[in-house]
Amino acid sequence: MIGKVPTPLSGSGAPRTTERSDQIEIEIEDAPVRAGRSVESAPACGNSDISIHADGDRPADRWCGGAAAGPGGWHLTYDDWDPEREGTREALCTMGNGYWATRASVPGVVADSVHYPGTYIAGIYNRCVLDVEGRPTETEHLVNVPDWTMLRIRLDDGTELRPGIPEMLEHHQNLDLRTGTLTRVDRYRDRAGRTTRVTTRQFHSMAEIHLAAIELDILAEDWNGALTVFSATNADVANRNATADRAIAYRHLLRGRHEFLDSATVLHVSTTDQSRLDIAVATRTTSTDSAAKRRRISRIDCPGIEFTFSVRAGVGAGIEKVAAVATSRDRGISTAAIAAADRLAAAPGFDASHAAHIRCWARLWRRFGIRLGDGPQHRMALNLHVFHVLQSTAAAGPDCDIGVPARGLHGESYRGHIFWDELFVYPMLTLRRPELTRAFLNYRHRRLPGARAAARKLGLPGALFPWRSGSDGREETPTELLNTRNGRWMPDNSHRQRHVGLAIAYSVWQYYQATADIGFLLESGAEMLIEIARLFAGSATHDPVSDRYDIVGVMGPDEYHDGYPDSPGTGLRNNAYTNVLTAWVLARTCDVVEILAGRDCDPLRERLALHPEEPEHWDRISRRLRVPFHADGVIGQFDGYEALEEFDWDTYRSRYGNIGRLDLILNAEGDSTNRYKLSKQADVLMLFYLFSAEELRHILDRLGYSLEPETIPRTVGYYLARTSHGSTLSRLAHAWVLARTDRAMSWGLFAQALEADLGDTQGGTTREGVHIGAMAGTADMVLRCYGGVETRHDTLRLHPVLPDDLPEVEFTLSYRGQPLTVEVSHTRVLVRLHPSAAAPIRVHIENIERTLGSGQTWEVPLP
Ligand code: BGC
Repeated sequence: MIGKVPTPLSGSGAPRTTERSDQIEIEIEDAPVRAGRSVESAPACGNSDISIHADGDRPADRWCGGAAAGPGGWHLTYDDWDPEREGTREALCTMGNGYWATRASVPGVVADSVHYPGTYIAGIYNRCVLDVEGRPTETEHLVNVPDWTMLRIRLDDGTELRPGIPEMLEHHQNLDLRTGTLTRVDRYRDRAGRTTRVTTRQFHSMAEIHLAAIELDILAEDWNGALTVFSATNADVANRNATADRAIAYRHLLRGRHEFLDSATVLHVSTTDQSRLDIAVATRTTSTDSAAKRRRISRIDCPGIEFTFSVRAGVGAGIEKVAAVATSRDRGISTAAIAAADRLAAAPGFDASHAAHIRCWARLWRRFGIRLGDGPQHRMALNLHVFHVLQSTAAAGPDCDIGVPARGLHGESYRGHIFWDELFVYPMLTLRRPELTRAFLNYRHRRLPGARAAARKLGLPGALFPWRSGSDGREETPTELLNTRNGRWMPDNSHRQRHVGLAIAYSVWQYYQATADIGFLLESGAEMLIEIARLFAGSATHDPVSDRYDIVGVMGPDEYHDGYPDSPGTGLRNNAYTNVLTAWVLARTCDVVEILAGRDCDPLRERLALHPEEPEHWDRISRRLRVPFHADGVIGQFDGYEALEEFDWDTYRSRYGNIGRLDLILNAEGDSTNRYKLSKQADVLMLFYLFSAEELRHILDRLGYSLEPETIPRTVGYYLARTSHGSTLSRLAHAWVLARTDRAMSWGLFAQALEADLGDTQGGTTREGVHIGAMAGTADMVLRCYGGVETRHDTLRLHPVLPDDLPEVEFTLSYRGQPLTVEVSHTRVLVRLHPSAAAPIRVHIENIERTLGSGQTWEVPLP
């Protein structure tokens, strides 16, 4: 007995309610979804009237990766079966809620060259020691947990119905972003000429985050006979999704155990082999056909229930499968097994759960929806981005200790680790649901002891956050990276990207600016800022000749330079991004010390043991850090960048086509990126991404450098011409910095950033997880860059700059507890404060400032 017997299942075998998802009102208007292409007429029954096509979704409308968008921008639709792209589509149609997520693999398949079923639970990591070319290598992975979606349909002649078999006539797949529902309709004609239609609908509940469900309808269109459906939990899983990790594919789960809790319910419990985390998956499978026969199949790695249906032409056979998960990391539970069984017992059937889920999405869209006055494809891409960011973050709260993995909960790339990408994610969250950012920042705060220990190990004060973080915040960056071009391992020194700590500090301050949440500052924010400031102040060495401070041995965000040509791997001197951001962080830390003065925060004071001379020291460094400049005034990426060789871009483009990953290309040629003036992604230009020109000029002024206005476009142009965009973050950052100088180019890059995952433009990486930083960044860009939203000096500022291709945009923000809607066009800005109990806020639009209270509207014409 591994769980307690749940209370009788209320939904078992009960007739379905008439409530349907498409009858639930969602306030965001859209063109109705109707049947666009007829699938041979079939008598209406079960869900045979489910419509998955939107008007206009003809193959001719197909866009990136074969996707169609539909007029409202709310549907990601595929009308073909493309085994080559199936892995990408599985990632793009992943269903999740931030607690857990499941890739959109067809229910019933197992991992092979086409399919990759993957289910991931936030924070469930496991370490393993593997042999990499004879060297024992310890790594930590986000664990692929048992697959709850297994539903195998077999005809009486033994044919298994799943897309891709020769018997398949049609395959349609629609991800409804508005309701968070994935629908597939497939039709098959078997060797005996019998036609069968299979429809599935699937969601991961936003209302009860531990639940997910699938509804399956099988319609024998023109035959009578028997078929079976095997509903199971497939625990025969391993981590083998990431190409770079394929050589070290690993089964993280010890052999599980299962129990049939009643005639419909199977509980499976497994445990990770190193972190010893229990994962319990309980599934309840019921059928609308009370005459269906059931058989328990007690297979150790794949226990389940087999249903045998006698089908008649035109009469559907329906199954619904509701799953509940729990892990031993959950709070307020006895064991994972008991919690999963209880959660499932409390769960209503598919329809009621789905209705609650849709209501939650409607609420999320009311807050996060962005009305883009542009074509449906861009609208859909942006909605898809917001959707996946929410599917990776929405469940965060004070009780869950989770970070934001760079590739979401959508695949195994980067082993589910957490990088600086959160810098791109937080603004989108902070300006709408700041408590999510707070929860994620606390993931970092809980790992402060480890970051302190890492600093001590290097003889430094303060806290050194890891470039790649997992369960306990130790450095997870591998020392080697598999070069997929030649199958050889090459050195990976990205642990030198200490700027990740600066990104955390930056985010702490931005969160505080947007919320004035002093409680957060006292509990955790100030401590992180101060410890990060200590690390960077302690890393800065004083040069008495120039009276400047230098920071050496680091890498900037551009990962193509990990040292100088004659000393690879040892890091760089004075990376401009690191030094300027350090100057800013040190100045903000001094502000925080002043904010803390007189506050009742003794425990914090004790923890910090702040020496009275520290702020003075930080202030001095923040005014004297060295920033390299080229002879013509362009900001130098690091000391010595100007002396590197120019790269032959044209030759490499014509030789390789996609030259995003020049590090891999040059390494395979026996050369090194360290030799050349080239960047993987924005580095110096990240400064223009993080700071307005006005603020950057102020930081540099304080450092004793002047940034002439004409230097900005020259610096932007210089690096733009030397960047390979080997990261999805790159086009985004460049689109941002060009927004005020070259609107057309900015929009072009922004549109490319929208296509990065949909079109899998990074050459096959999306199948290993979507790029959450770039997804959040594009949504944020509409608000903070094109919409010109800035939270600075206790004021909400709006200085919009819409590209010509974007006639208007509308979005909702939450600033200091006050929800407000902003409408921006080329001729006006309108701000509407929603009714609320929040204190009045200061709003600054185009050099006019006003204090606005709940319910007030302010419209400002634009020149
Ligand atoms: C980028 C990093 C990023 C990481 C995870 C890399 O390709 O260069 O900046 O943090 O991917 O998304």
